Amino acid sequence: MHFYILTLFPDLIRQIMQTSIIGRAVNSGILTFEAVNIRDYTTDKHKKVDDYPYGGGAGMVMQAQPVYDAWKAVREKIGPDHTSVRTIYLTPQAPVFSQQMAKTFAKEQHLILLCGHYEGIDERVLEEIVTDYLSIGDYVLTGGELPAMVLADAVSRMVPGVLANEQSGSTESLEGSLLEYPQYSRPEEWNHKKVPAVLLSGNHANVDAWRREQSILRTIERRPDLLSQADLTEKERETYL
Ligand code: ADE
Repeated sequence: MHFYILTLFPDLIRQIMQTSIIGRAVNSGILTFEAVNIRDYTTDKHKKVDDYPYGGGAGMVMQAQPVYDAWKAVREKIGPDHTSVRTIYLTPQAPVFSQQMAKTFAKEQHLILLCGHYEGIDERVLEEIVTDYLSIGDYVLTGGELPAMVLADAVSRMVPGVLANEQSGSTESLEGSLLEYPQYSRPEEWNHKKVPAVLLSGNHANVDAWRREQSILRTIERRPDLLSQADLTEKERETYL
């Protein structure tokens, strides 16, 4: 999977992508990240990439030309064989990104992520290049870089081979719209609190049943809004809801 991130702050992207699990996947060649500096593509002699908004108002708007030329350079690099490469613009004015979307995007070979700054990007270039508008939540950040990294991280860990244990990508929070069960590690007793006995029993069927129940109870308590779409059996619905 190849990520291309169009940004005014490429160093920020490079820092994040060199670390942790994602960094390992980059080193092993499963993922590539290319941070493309939009400023490198401006034709303005002072390297300017923004200007005042027509109609007035606060702040500056990123101009169409450097964004378009940076995108075109990436698009040409990917090549004409890949006709339907998605270009995702991170913006709070969009549907909220989800685990389900992460799984869908993980099937793509290439993803272009566009990060905005200031008061946004000239609408005309967005109309030309963007295929998907996505938000990471109902709050406003200072730029699209952190949202792009959130999306890239969530998508990356759904790419086969990125997680050491393939299973941990599926039996986890939000699988089937349920939250994950609580986890425990050594010691068996800490701060006068014992690990639930069933987890020490060695009976895998009982462990699975307990974890399933904990997932359901936790979702009811913490995210009841997920229940309407949760994968519950008839019996579970009768028992818990
Ligand atoms: N840019 C600024 N805020 C954002 C958000 N919440 N999601 C995506 N992009 C953004």
